[in-house]
Amino acid sequence: MNVKQIIGEKAAEYIRSGMILGLGTGSTAFWAIRKIGQMVRDDGLDIVGVPTSEGTKELALDEGIPLIPYDGLTHIDLTIDGADEFALDKNLIKGGGGALLREKIVASLSDYYIVIADHAKLSPVLGKFPLPVEVIPFAWQVTSRHIERLGCQPHIRGGGKTPFITDNGNYILDCDFGKITEPNRLSQELNRIPGVVENGLFLNMTDIIITSTDEGGIRIIE
Ligand code: 5RP
Repeated sequence: MNVKQIIGEKAAEYIRSGMILGLGTGSTAFWAIRKIGQMVRDDGLDIVGVPTSEGTKELALDEGIPLIPYDGLTHIDLTIDGADEFALDKNLIKGGGGALLREKIVASLSDYYIVIADHAKLSPVLGKFPLPVEVIPFAWQVTSRHIERLGCQPHIRGGGKTPFITDNGNYILDCDFGKITEPNRLSQELNRIPGVVENGLFLNMTDIIITSTDEGGIRIIE
């Protein structure tokens, strides 16, 4: 078993029948979703899922996990999602898979938020992973120049000619700010820029992080 599978399956131990479950995106969340599918099919686990991306929606349906639409959602009992970088204060950078907007909407509705990320993603200070920022396509270069003034050189994901398009029809700017010493301030300043839809800083949202140890074991950060 690889480490992503070990921590993904560990997270599934927190699930109980009757829950509304947020289903994350990425190669670590993949293993949690596979396990949930197995629990639904083989153990009669009675849950409904809320996917954080079109890819996760497809995977969940393939696994036989029942899904509910976003429309009537008022809360989610538990969400399991990955991260691109985390700090010991449980703040995160997400969006490497381009799903940060739906992931943040789901996180914001979640009573309990579990992050699954191997220990190579732990940083003393966030900023090693370039911060993904979702922007609307209209005049994205203008938005990019606004972001640049906050202290980074934004790169449009996929390149200007063939930009990566999110599930919401937007673009992603990957922004290397170096060490992010004031994440709350940066997040607020980014989201104030016209054209920015959301940024990949997930602050004060995480309840626990399930990560790995050097020896391939499990570490839980509470
Ligand atoms: C997608 C994300 C993912 O959670 C993040 O990229 C981690 O993915 P992986 O587990 O494949 O490393 O934020 O938008």
